[in-house]
Amino acid sequence: MDAIRITGGVPLDGEIAVQGSKNAALPLMAAAVLNKGVTVLFGCPRISDVFSMEEVLRSLGARTRWEQDALILDTGPMDQVKVKRELGEKMRSSIVLLGSLLGRFGEAVLPYPGGCVIGQRPVDLHLAALEKLGARFYEEDGMLHAKAQRLAGGEICFAKPSVGATQNAVLGAVCAPGRTVIRGCSREPEVTWLCRFLNLAGGRIRGIGTDCLKIQGVPSLHDTGMQIPADRIAAGTYVCASAVTRGRGILRNAPVGEMGALLHVYEKMGGQYAFNSGKLSLCSCGVKNPVRGLRTQVYPGFPTDLQSVLVAVLATVKGESCVEETIFEDRFKAVPELVRMGADITVCRSTAHIRGRDLSGARVCARELRGGAALVVAGLAAEGETCVENRHFIERGYEDICRDLSLLGACIRKD
Ligand code: UD1
Repeated sequence: MDAIRITGGVPLDGEIAVQGSKNAALPLMAAAVLNKGVTVLFGCPRISDVFSMEEVLRSLGARTRWEQDALILDTGPMDQVKVKRELGEKMRSSIVLLGSLLGRFGEAVLPYPGGCVIGQRPVDLHLAALEKLGARFYEEDGMLHAKAQRLAGGEICFAKPSVGATQNAVLGAVCAPGRTVIRGCSREPEVTWLCRFLNLAGGRIRGIGTDCLKIQGVPSLHDTGMQIPADRIAAGTYVCASAVTRGRGILRNAPVGEMGALLHVYEKMGGQYAFNSGKLSLCSCGVKNPVRGLRTQVYPGFPTDLQSVLVAVLATVKGESCVEETIFEDRFKAVPELVRMGADITVCRSTAHIRGRDLSGARVCARELRGGAALVVAGLAAEGETCVENRHFIERGYEDICRDLSLLGACIRKD
């Protein structure tokens, strides 16, 4: 089977280490392409999106191997620029190879990206940015073809911040001769980590963490290694797991500096936390307050990736809550499934109106990664047994959600 079974009603208590970040690891794997040599990613999460990206890089000629939790990428032998349709379509993040393949080979062929089904997810901003660096694009048989004699520095101004498009622009610019200025950048930590990594490898990027990046192109990058930062979304999911069961929990190396918006909401709901010696200690016994007027926003606002998990918590908090999704237009895919568990939620345009009540176990179906995690979180609080089908969606981003939640005391297993 491809499911997760949970017996709900157990208040969590236990300690886990937070896994490495999916959304930081994937662009660093793409960045490795720009160095014709060896890159080591320590603490790389063992999740299916990372395995898919590894498979893509191997298909392009790279050598990859694991030593414990370190992923070692040797991109020296890479000699291909065409990402096979069936590989690239597995994950939207394959689009982030566009900037690095163009930067290294002046050419790239990619399928239009797959990944979560959470709305349109266009790539116009990615293409417009790389065009400013000299790339040209055309589409043939559903494949995106990119070419550039040689990328060169340029001025890019994003009308709206996009994480992936900013990463592609940075990857295209870092080895492009001349100076690139990128305005209207996304300031998400996953952009910051990419820039830090590139600078460690010899890049010259300034303005890191701001919405204006200035990049002086360098002729080449060199071998380097970096620790993948802890996953703020996985950590946030486990904060919500603690909250939904009114339990406790300790998260080792949680990236609290990147979790401000979530922890603020957690406190508003009645949760209490302390952060000492790298450990985030949670006490959710007092979670009882509904939340109104919350909107997902770009960083440092409340992350869209935690919206469905938070909705699952609020579905159990008596009173009326509402959460507006402003980043993606179709990100309430978990709501009909939560309703099957007894939740009282209605979605009106981009806002979920939630009236908290007790949930009951049911057979439900994950339709995408974070929505799937939300169903698991709801199952922790539901009376009786919940079976969440389509576990593979959840495994795209969580190393082992059953292991982690078991360590936190939940009654949960793979099926
Ligand atoms: C990344 C994250 C994803 C997270 C999202 C928002 C990775 C692998 N994925 O996705 O988990 O949910 O940031 O924090 O890091 N847009 C356009 N045109 C484009 C690109 C984007 O209109 O060319 C729009 C999107 O439809 C969306 C918004 O911009 O409405 C933000 O998307 P973006 O920041 O690009 O998200 P991703 O990089 O795809």
